[in-house]
Amino acid sequence: MARDMTASMTDSPSWLQPRSIARERDRSYVSVQATRKTYSTRSGDVQAVEQADFDVDEGDFVTLVGPSGCGKSTLMSMIGGLETPSAGRILVNGAPVTAPRRDFGYVFQDATLLPWKSVLDNVLFPIRTQKRPVASYMAEAERLLQLTGLWAFRDKRPAELSGGMRQRVAICRGLINDPQLLMMDEPFSALDAITRDDMNIALAQLWDEVRKTAIFITHSIREAVFLSDRVLVMNARPSRIVADIRVPFPRPRRAEMQETPLFNEICGFIRDKIHEGHGR
Ligand SMILES: Nc1ncnc2c1ncn2[C@@H]1O[C@H](COP(=O)(O)OP(=O)(O)O)[C@@H](O)[C@H]1O
Ligand SMILES: [Mg+2]
Repeated sequence: MARDMTASMTDSPSWLQPRSIARERDRSYVSVQATRKTYSTRSGDVQAVEQADFDVDEGDFVTLVGPSGCGKSTLMSMIGGLETPSAGRILVNGAPVTAPRRDFGYVFQDATLLPWKSVLDNVLFPIRTQKRPVASYMAEAERLLQLTGLWAFRDKRPAELSGGMRQRVAICRGLINDPQLLMMDEPFSALDAITRDDMNIALAQLWDEVRKTAIFITHSIREAVFLSDRVLVMNARPSRIVADIRVPFPRPRRAEMQETPLFNEICGFIRDKIHEGHGR
């Protein structure tokens, strides 16, 4: 049924953006240009990213959605300067990424909090490691913990928190030094479905307040559409970006939008794109 729907959409829907690349790419905040990544392993070369070409504008919440193993984390590592592209180049603010970007925030599937430190100290941890004055970040820590409903838990240890709360702490920690870009790699994938729904709503609300450039990775199509301004759809091997969607829903995002025909139409389209040529 979903397939028939795609067939009837050959005259492109307005939310599907052409895969043409902007002319003045060096002006985008992040520009991933003809980027490939091959890992050499003992059992031969692994093509982790076949070819990636996209730009991210400042202030956009952009999600990469695709099946496991299609190269999403590798792409994120290259943008953050933790891995070097095998071909192509990546620019941030017009300059090539040559070293790990400490001015970005990172959130991973595992919250990786320090178990012996309080919530507040975990949020402030990057400030301490960067030897910045902790006192001048106290107000920001409080603001972030208030926005995520964690201020009352500031003195708790991570073991006293639920999984969803731990991920919220990790997001606050990722935001504490006012990063130019927040990268989130499947931050909610280890949570149960109900907590995950709640986290999506919490993150959407937080975004209305902090409004930062974000690159978010997930293999949940609904999560991608709910959270993002833009969704880049990746295909499994050869891993490529096969669709670029400008999500037409206004902010603030409301849970109810997930029940609308348009939301489901976009999700169905993405699902078909991911599976195109790969069977199911
Ligand atoms: N350090 C590495 N060495 C060798 N192969 C890797 C390495 N990192 C990732 N890969 C391989 O590259 C492919 C893409 O991985 P990854 O970027 O983690 O995908 P995703 O995040 O989309 O699940 C996978 O086949 C994975 O096994
Ligand atoms: Mg990954």
